[in-house]
Parts: sequence; C-alpha cells; structure tokens
Amino acid sequence: MLPLTRRAFLGASLAGLAGGPVLGADKPAEKPAEKPAEATPRASDDAAFQPSTLLLTWQRDPTTTMTVQWVGVKGETADTKVYYAPAAGGPFEAEPTLPRPYPQTDFKVFRAELTGLRPGADYWFRIGKRSPLYRFRTMPAKATDTIHFVSGGDCGVNVHAIANNVQAARQDPMFAVVGGDLGYDDGKSVEVSLAFLRNYSKHMVGRDGRLIPLVACVGNHEVEGGYNKPRAKAPFFYALFDGLYPETGFATLDFGDYLSLVLLDSGHTSAIDGAQADWLGKALKERAEQPHVLVVNHVPAYPSFRKIAGKDGKAGTGEGNRKHWVPLFEKHRVPVVLEHHDHTFKRTKPLLDGRQDENGVLYLGDGSWGRLRAPQKPEDLAYLAATSRDYHLSLHRLQGEERFHLALDENGRVMDVCRSGQRKGGMVRVRE
Ligand SMILES: [Fe+2]
Ligand SMILES: [Fe+2]
Repeated sequence: MLPLTRRAFLGASLAGLAGGPVLGADKPAEKPAEKPAEATPRASDDAAFQPSTLLLTWQRDPTTTMTVQWVGVKGETADTKVYYAPAAGGPFEAEPTLPRPYPQTDFKVFRAELTGLRPGADYWFRIGKRSPLYRFRTMPAKATDTIHFVSGGDCGVNVHAIANNVQAARQDPMFAVVGGDLGYDDGKSVEVSLAFLRNYSKHMVGRDGRLIPLVACVGNHEVEGGYNKPRAKAPFFYALFDGLYPETGFATLDFGDYLSLVLLDSGHTSAIDGAQADWLGKALKERAEQPHVLVVNHVPAYPSFRKIAGKDGKAGTGEGNRKHWVPLFEKHRVPVVLEHHDHTFKRTKPLLDGRQDENGVLYLGDGSWGRLRAPQKPEDLAYLAATSRDYHLSLHRLQGEERFHLALDENGRVMDVCRSGQRKGGMVRVRE
C-alpha cells in the first residue's frame, strides 16, 4: 500500500465536492431517456403497489443481469411480473417472479432475475402495472471508466445505520457490499429482517432514482447461534440471497474481466477450513489475471477490538482465518480484504504473515455501519495502521489497475484515505 495524504488524494478534481459525492461518479450520470408515457414516477404516492422491501441484488455477472426481489404476500397485487425496458428506448419485456417462502411467516420472497441485459446501461422497471417506475443500471462490460462502490458491515436498524445509508447513497455508488450482520435478526426476528430491508430500500437510492444493488455475505447475527450452524439457522439471509449462495455460505461474483468479489463465510454456516479453504485456493488461482480481486468476510483475521490471542484454551479472534485463509490471500496476491464484526474503523498495515511488508495484504474494516465499539490503538498493536471509534462506510474506487479506499463517517467526513498495492507477479512474496 502506498502512503497517500488526504490532501494529495482529493486533489483538484475532487475539491469542492464536500457534502456531495466524495469519490462517486466524476461526471454526471447518463441523461435518462424520456419516461414512457404510462410511467408513474417513483416518488409519487399514487401508485397502488409500492413494496417497501424492494431490493436489487445479483446472482451472477452484474454486467448483463439484475435480480429484482421484494418480500410481500400473495394476492396483494394482481400482476407480480417484472416489466423492464432500456431507458434509451425499447419495448418492455416481462419476467415472471417465482414466490418463495419467507420463513416463519406467510410472507413470500418474489424474485425475478433479468438476464441478457446490455452492459453499462440504464433500465426502467416496474412490478405489474400498478407500481411506480424504478431504475437500475447494469455494470459496464469493461472498466474503461472508474468503478466505484461502497462497503461496510454491522448495520442494524438504528438512526446511525440510516445516516450511513444516506451517506452511502449520496456517493451514488454502483453497488454496496455489506459484509455480514445486516439487521441483527439472529435468524429469529422477522421484524428486524424486514426493517433492514425497508431501510435499505428507502435510502439506498442513487442519482436519478437509480436503486443501488446490494451484495451481502453472512455474519453471525444472521444465524441463530452465530457459529457452526446449518443454513436453516440463517433463514432470512438465505431466503434473500440463496441465488448467489445456493448451497454454501461462500461464493464469487465476477464483474466482466476487471473485478471479482470473493465472499466468504467466517464459520457461521460453513466451516472456515476444509471445503471452503480448498474452494478459496482454487477460486483465487482461477482469478490470477483479474486486476481487482477483493475478499469480503465477516469475522476479521486481524481484529481491532477483540483479542487476536486465544485464552484459556479458546481460539483467538480470526484464528481460523489466519490459519486457513491468510496464506492463500498472500500466495495469490489478494490486495484487499474487507473485514467486519468488531464495530470500529480499522486499517491495517500491509501484512505478510502478520508483519508489515510493503507488498502485503491490506485489511480494511471493521464493520461500524450502525454499531460501535472502542478499538485498540495502533501504538498498542503492531499490525494496525489506523483505528477510530466512528460509524463509517468505505468508498472504493478502481481506476485502471489502481485502487483507492476512503473511509467516510456518518456525516460524510473523510476519515481515512489509502491506496492498495498491485497484483503483479512477484510483488507479493509468497509464504510457503
Ligand atoms: Fe456485528
Ligand atoms: Fe458479527
């Protein structure tokens, strides 16, 4: 990782953007085409069907697909098909939704995956004929322009989580990644799971009313019992995200030929070692040529609040990660790992085997979208570069082969700026 001052980073081109997007799109979004004559604007109150839990996510390539889903009840609207059309013009096509159970309730998840879409394009969509008209944008086929997205974790449903949602949306990110502990439903509370969805759906709206897709990985608070449990103990999480995670708690999401997210399950519904570690090695090897490979997991390998060392025969925090995953991150030159669970802001030094090395792996975290703890101090813990007790989200910008990472607090203040190292062969020394 290269040192970078806030002043140098923001530079002339980003100056004067305070209060607006800090790292979002530098140029205005594509001018929307005229809405079809029968369209009802999203903001209007007169549409008869406005699902408060409407959520976009992905199950596969975000350059050509979009998954539209909401939680509702059968019969509340007559037509549950998703109608969609390019904003640049063209006829609406219809995709039926398949109602699937939302556990412990009479609710259903209505889901439609739209495929064969144009990359980097704006679309209108609506549910049946009675919903407002919404918008989404597919990811570009090539990273010729800047790719920018937000990440964080440990949200909950309180006022701070909402403030962070608002700040995140203000950056107009292409998508958001939440690395576990979404609403804190603990696999038991349908009310909390729905409250998280309602908040996200309401606030995570970008420029021109574009809905911001969510990519999530599992945390302990999605799971009744937290750790080493079957998928059935994370019923709400998998009801929403089993398209990406059909069998296990880990998956990859590949964005064209420029970005791969490697989403891991830090021992909640899949063991860290064994099948997941074997899969991780293969997944990283297969993506050696991707310029940007980011790992996302919940429990941190390098914690900022909890203790790294075990006590009284109990494992230290992240011990499984460090034993089974970190050597693979280093071997395959993963530049950045997004970690959560400790409810702080954290940036580690670039690390190889826990020690600072300029060609090492950067760990960013630790999940304080809406939950907070007082972190340990960098002067007390050698692997840490920066910590603070602030609600925050991370803003990532991929530019060519460069990667920039900002931490923003809930008021939009830039707390930290850094740039992560390159993946070129030989840049990271391999630990055998
Ligand atoms: Fe948490
Ligand atoms: Fe957690």
